[in-house]
Amino acid sequence: LRTAVLISGRGSNMEALLAAAAPGDYPAEIVLVAANRPDAAGLATAQAAGIATDFVDHKPFGRDREAFERALDERLTTHDIELVCLAGFMRILTPWFVKRWLGRLINIHPSLLPLFPGTHTHERALAAGVRLHGCTSHFVEPEVDAGPIIAQAAVPVLPGDTPDVLAARVLVQEHLIYPRALALVASGAVRWREGGAVFAPGAD
Ligand code: GRF
Repeated sequence: LRTAVLISGRGSNMEALLAAAAPGDYPAEIVLVAANRPDAAGLATAQAAGIATDFVDHKPFGRDREAFERALDERLTTHDIELVCLAGFMRILTPWFVKRWLGRLINIHPSLLPLFPGTHTHERALAAGVRLHGCTSHFVEPEVDAGPIIAQAAVPVLPGDTPDVLAARVLVQEHLIYPRALALVASGAVRWREGGAVFAPGAD
């Protein structure tokens, strides 16, 4: 499936997706990396990898999130995109955009959802004293960081961990599960259903 990756920053998850999708037998073809800011570092990385890049700066749209999204959606349509991966995309999406892409829009989040939706997940995990933390890939729904779970990985929280140390441990797992989650969705082994994803027998 023709896939776009949306980023806002360094794009290390985007790189992991590109690496996974490079061999011919991967079910998703990443044809576009787009950002909501022209200076997103990941755009240069994607360009260097020979992938088409684009950006729609959200700033001129002010508070009109939907107008920004309509502009973004136009780019996705231009590239015949069928599946969208959010990878560190730091804009909250309106129900309009989410409903338009429902079942074809996935995200990677740095916590074991439904724990710690939102930002500063590593700080909050440390403050809560959990001994396990991790990451989740899920279908995007209008509620932030909610939606049927596709893949998760857990890491231990170790004595002396700082948010940065813990984030780095989680990030390694993000780079492993996100390409797997995209493959599951692109191959049809997992699909969106209200209240929980449906897995084909044997899907892992
Ligand atoms: C990742 O931890 C992702 O889970 C979160 O933001 C971070 C983005 O990192 N939503 P990168 O841009 O993929 O390197």
